[in-house]
Amino acid sequence: MAFLRRLFWLGAIAVLCVCPAQAAQPPFHFGVAWYPEQWPQQRWPRDLELMQRARINVVRIAEFSWSTLEPREGQYDFAWLDKAIAMAAQHHIQVVIGTPTAAPPAWLTQKYPDVLRVNENGSREEHGNRLQYSFSNERYRGFARDIAGRLAERYGHNPDVIGWQIDNEISPPSFDDGTRAQWHDWLKRKYGDIASLNAHWTTAYWSETYNDFDQVPMRSEIENPGLLLDFKRFVSDTWISYVRNQADAIRAHADPRQFVTTNTMHWKARFDDFALHRILDLAAWDNYVPDGHFIWADNALLHDAVRGYKQRNFWVMETQAAFVNYGSVNRTLDPGRMREMAWQAVGHGADALLYWQWRSALNGQEQYYGALVGPDGRPVPAYTEAARIGAEFAKAGAALAGTSPHARIAVIQSYESRWAIDFQRHNRDFDPDEELAAFYRPLEHLAQSVDIVSPDAPLERYSLVVAPDLNVLPKATAEHLADYVRRGGHLLLGPRSGMKDEYDTLWTMRQPGPLADVLGGHVEQYYALDVPVAIESGLGNGQASIWGEALASDDPQTTVTMRYGDGNTLLAGRPAGLTRTVGKGHISYLGAWLDEALMRRMLAVELAGAGVKPLIAGPDDVEVCERVGTRKQVLILINHGDENRTVALPRAMRNVLRRGSVRSVQLAPHDVAVLIHERKSAP
Ligand code: GAL
Repeated sequence: MAFLRRLFWLGAIAVLCVCPAQAAQPPFHFGVAWYPEQWPQQRWPRDLELMQRARINVVRIAEFSWSTLEPREGQYDFAWLDKAIAMAAQHHIQVVIGTPTAAPPAWLTQKYPDVLRVNENGSREEHGNRLQYSFSNERYRGFARDIAGRLAERYGHNPDVIGWQIDNEISPPSFDDGTRAQWHDWLKRKYGDIASLNAHWTTAYWSETYNDFDQVPMRSEIENPGLLLDFKRFVSDTWISYVRNQADAIRAHADPRQFVTTNTMHWKARFDDFALHRILDLAAWDNYVPDGHFIWADNALLHDAVRGYKQRNFWVMETQAAFVNYGSVNRTLDPGRMREMAWQAVGHGADALLYWQWRSALNGQEQYYGALVGPDGRPVPAYTEAARIGAEFAKAGAALAGTSPHARIAVIQSYESRWAIDFQRHNRDFDPDEELAAFYRPLEHLAQSVDIVSPDAPLERYSLVVAPDLNVLPKATAEHLADYVRRGGHLLLGPRSGMKDEYDTLWTMRQPGPLADVLGGHVEQYYALDVPVAIESGLGNGQASIWGEALASDDPQTTVTMRYGDGNTLLAGRPAGLTRTVGKGHISYLGAWLDEALMRRMLAVELAGAGVKPLIAGPDDVEVCERVGTRKQVLILINHGDENRTVALPRAMRNVLRRGSVRSVQLAPHDVAVLIHERKSAP
């Protein structure tokens, strides 16, 4: 009896000791953007009840609420936020606080108009809309630091607040005088003396030689490519210091368990996401399909790109509740597509998914935007689908806990190369994002798991590394890649690779520049194509379009893998692909933008050479995603097609959403299955 009493007290003490700051995290965060400041407080309990019913366990709040938090300069009102957080907690809903700096209040911009952004044409933004501040402005940063710091002081130890989002979709740079002065300082710090800048940018060209850093123009297009690339880097660094300013203010007060992130807009490439995410705890992005047509392979690429920012699982901070309001036709996602998209996000490493938004503001610029409840406060069809997803996430949470995707293939994404190509596409259709996708899509189909990494990421764990258009190839990166090859890696370079150094200056060696020796071959001449050119190869024939490079091999050990067909072009009969064995590894170069079918065959050969097999052989329209944990393997299978599909599993697995152990699953059109295999002990 005494023993039982002791056991009871030990249990009770243990329960009491679970301090709120360590309250259990749900294994998966499912949520919504909620704007309590737009609604009377009496309405909040009803909203929160409805959320809870849909298994929503996190809300992001406050990111546009500056005029409510600080209605006049220095007068703060946090009472409403205290209450919103506390009420959400009563419904087991945790909170991510967005700092409100994407929308400065009118008192601020009126009294200090110098904080307003200046466009490249010299016009200053007026108050209104959002993101109308200058990202480099010290005064604005002071205000941003103040409000972020006050929020962190108040909520940095609040057990119901789990993280912070800084600003919202940071994006347009400013071209004001203050930014110009910082640009010149940035150049001074980088080059030390103006002669060095002149040399690297070849400013003797068009009499561009500068006597002083102050003379350098600030432009984002139609300029010296060296200047343009540095301006991109400067903008990127300025956004990073803009975010760091608030991250520091938050971290000075917040518990380390609270994460700090910002919600990015996937492919805008206005800054280097790899660099930005070094100062953030996790990557988060906003996933929208403006025309309402969900193209799964393209969306998969975006998730993988975001996972690559930190090479870790990420959050989908916003995703569309049925439709958006900014497309030309804001078509609604077909029934079931929200679910398909949600599970795809999870399959690619999302640990959270939040809909934008809970309920449309009764007025404001986004009245037409999709939401989970209507203006009358009652659920709309998107709520019903979200509730189904919420119930499934709740069921699968434990299975997903501690798992993440692990790919054996990496695609290198270089912001500098993307920017450099975009400055001078040479063929308007040479969109570097599209070109990366042209490699990614077949890889995703064939290998079912792809990482997208920065050029300096560690590569040892990859069997195959593909660099679609590594146009800017500094020596150090070339050495990193050559090293990977010599140690047994398989490297495939795509067209336009190795053309320039880090100053966007042409290498004096032919492409792929510092990797030409390793390849034992080079590019004789590149050509922009306005009509396709035939390609002949042992893999069958095909076509090159948009871009074709005539290659030449310099080494007897370098093999030609494909050639341009006969015809009246300078490409006729010339090699379009080369490959060479180097030590234990392989390097290949592809000089043409191949048609889809030949690209797929070529990549299948690369994958076979690297020993990479698909997880599950199956139909192309079934997406196979794998998340692995210490003792478990989770498969997420999504039928993106309109036919019923049966997929054989590699072993018996537990069907997480439907129960039971299965060796194969049947998937109705656009249906999802989640399967788990748990090992008794670690391998
Ligand atoms: C996002 C933005 C949200 C909302 C949403 C509507 O880009 O972060 O605040 O505007 O778009 O599409």
